[in-house]
Order: sequence, then C-alpha cells, then structure tokens
Amino acid sequence: MVTRVSSGGVGHEMKEIEANKRAWSLVARDHYEAFSARLREEHSLLNDIVTRELGDLSGKKVIHLQCNTGADTLSLARMGARVTGVDLVPANVHYARKMAKELGVENARFIESDVLALADIHGERYDVVFTSEGAIGWLPDLHGWGHTIRHLLDDDGFFYIFDSHPFQLTFDEEKMSEDILEIAYPYFGREPDVDTRIGGYASEAKDGVNYFWMYSVGDVINALAGAGLHIEYFNEYDFLYFRLPGMEPVDKGLWRWPHYRGKLPFAFSLKASVFRPVAGID
Ligand SMILES: C[S@@+](CC[C@H](N)C(=O)[O-])C[C@H]1O[C@@H](n2cnc3c(N)ncnc32)[C@H](O)[C@@H]1O
Repeated sequence: MVTRVSSGGVGHEMKEIEANKRAWSLVARDHYEAFSARLREEHSLLNDIVTRELGDLSGKKVIHLQCNTGADTLSLARMGARVTGVDLVPANVHYARKMAKELGVENARFIESDVLALADIHGERYDVVFTSEGAIGWLPDLHGWGHTIRHLLDDDGFFYIFDSHPFQLTFDEEKMSEDILEIAYPYFGREPDVDTRIGGYASEAKDGVNYFWMYSVGDVINALAGAGLHIEYFNEYDFLYFRLPGMEPVDKGLWRWPHYRGKLPFAFSLKASVFRPVAGID
C-alpha cells in the first residue's frame, strides 16, 4: 500500500474525485494483467473470511461497488451469483469487461459510475450489495453511500463489507512493521489526506495525486443505520487483506504481523439488512 503524505482541504470534492479517477486509471492495465493471470490459476480471489461470511450466492443478484478491474466481481460470479460491478474509472470498467469475456464469465456486467451518483442512473434492486478491501476511504460522503446502498437493496436483501479497520488506518504503516505505533492520520480527522502514489497492492505503485478520507467505526455504522439499515454484525480481525513487510499468512488472502496478533484490529466485516420495525411496537 501507499503512504499518505499531507492533508488536503474540504469543500473540493469534485476536484478530489476527478483526481482519484485519473490516479486509478494509471494502474488499470497493470491490475488487469495481474488479476487476469491469477484468475486463470485460481477459481476465486476472495479472501477466506469474505467467502465464508457471504455464504451461498447461487442464483443471487449481487452488485459490487468499487469493483476496480473486476477480479472480485468475477469471483462472485463464479460462486453462482449474477453480478454487476460498478467503478468510477472508465479504464477499470473496460478491463473488467475484457477480463470477463476472456475468462468466459457470462453472468457479470459492469457499470461506470461514481458510487455516490449511482442512485440517479440505476434503479435496479439487488439481493446483495457488496464492497470490500479498500473501499470507503475513497468516498467523500458516507451518508450518501449509506443511502445509495439502501436504494440498491431489495427489502429482503443484505449489505456486506470487508475493509480496513478505521483504527488501524491511523498508524504509520511502515513503523507498524517495526512494532512502533505512531499516529499519522487522526482517527477523527475529516479532511482528506493527499497522496502522490496510487496502487501498490496488485502491481507496482505509480505517481498520481489522490485523496483518501478517514472515517471512524461510528461513521460507518451511523451512515448505514441512518439510511434505514439494521446492523446484523460488526466483526473485527487482527489481520489484513494484503501483505506488508514482516507479515505472515493467516488464511487465503489474509496476513498478520505476529507482534500484533490478538492486540489490534486491522480489518472489519459488517453485515446489514433492511430495518423492519417489530409489529405492534411504536
Ligand atoms: C482499492 S480499490 C478497491 C479494490 C477492490 N477491493 C477490488 O475488488 O479489486 C478502490 C476502487 O475504488 C474505485 N473508486 C474510487 N472512488 C470511487 C467512487 N467515488 N465511485 C466508484 N468507484 C470509486 C477506484 O477506481 C478503485 O477501483
């Protein structure tokens, strides 16, 4: 992953989204090449926790928000779901469609859209809304995100996310590998951090200015609850979904620093369904 280097300002969200769009497009081709090579060897690139917690998806209509070049979208399709991947970046959508065609995955389609604008252009409902592994920090408005998820969900459907734990994101990553905890990004910071490098988890990072927002655990839960969702669980894990120096493998797609085992949350998963008031209770 990359290191965030300074603080930006609020009130320039369009400029920031445009910068993120440009930055992510720089690594689209490299991601396509890396992921398609892996998907030729492996049936699914989903990590073990996600696979287990999502359960049986056969026949389900699933939408995958912030799908990048579609590797996880195609993994969901191979689990038997009918999947729609959504991403901001035209090149990501182009390569996702190309990868689906080349791998012969027919039950996947892709939409180019800002997640926060999706409700304006897409009226379909889904059994499952899915997002994972580096999603929420790219969005400037978690309340808008919560309402988009509710808009997409069928009344009997559920939302599932597996992402970096907000607490862990406060620390300087490089120092953590040396067992040093130094707060680099305030937990309650509300201004986006500016970085000059993009990507780095699937292929080499590249130069490209990008913006990333910090959210607290409360922000995530309140955004979903405020949109009318009922939180079924919030699980915390002492491992991550990418490998940094000094980490050891835990399960498929998951790694941990031995010195933080059982001590700090690194990732979380959350499942939510549409809130239904109990009959007879006001
Ligand atoms: C770290 S990647 C997520 C990777 C993902 N876990 C996957 O399935 O490969 C973040 C993705 O979010 C996308 N993104 C960033 N801002 C977005 C927005 N406002 N709307 C939709 N997608 C966005 C980027 O283009 C990028 O593909």
